[in-house]
Amino acid sequence: MEKLTWQQAYSTGIRVIDDDHKMLFSIVNNLVSEVNGESTGDSRQIESLLEALVEYVDSHFAREELFLEQFGYPKLDEHRDRHDALRHQIDAISNDYQAAPDSIDLEKVCDFLINWLSQHILKSDMDYVPYLNGEKEGKEPGLRDTSQQVTVSVPMGTGRLIHELAHELRHAQDVDSAIRHFNDEHFSGSYRKRSFLKSPS
Ligand SMILES: [Fe+2]
Repeated sequence: MEKLTWQQAYSTGIRVIDDDHKMLFSIVNNLVSEVNGESTGDSRQIESLLEALVEYVDSHFAREELFLEQFGYPKLDEHRDRHDALRHQIDAISNDYQAAPDSIDLEKVCDFLINWLSQHILKSDMDYVPYLNGEKEGKEPGLRDTSQQVTVSVPMGTGRLIHELAHELRHAQDVDSAIRHFNDEHFSGSYRKRSFLKSPS
């Protein structure tokens, strides 16, 4: 299965956010490695990666939402709803995997995560960029200087894994290859209803 490749089209130009997105790509790509049989296939490793994803998605969304709030992004509620839907979905995947690892189709999970992340960045996230760059006026201007105060903490075990992934990431190359295009219809898909259980064979 193909991994997510960072491309210029994914760049918001806002370093903190781009770094977060690269980290999310890295965690998902580590899960894809498990699907592709390039890694141990150890369920504890997969469990840790899913936990890292839960933690990092949570901290990234909190950070992003704070920026959007501070810059008065007018579609914040809509954006937060999209985040919440993914938060719940990933929580459910992680819990289901812990309860019964053999019942979860990891390939379906990765496919879902790759599509969600790339479409969310290319469509929803790109929409707020002009507000954060000051090219469009938000609802409450004048709060920009507070945006640097965002901090985040993650639990010890997950923090270590994220640190290791960040180290790998520094050596990653940005690749300008073909840009994926997605249509709105695809983007608004009802992913809440998706099942990640293995199909009966
Ligand atoms: Fe977002």
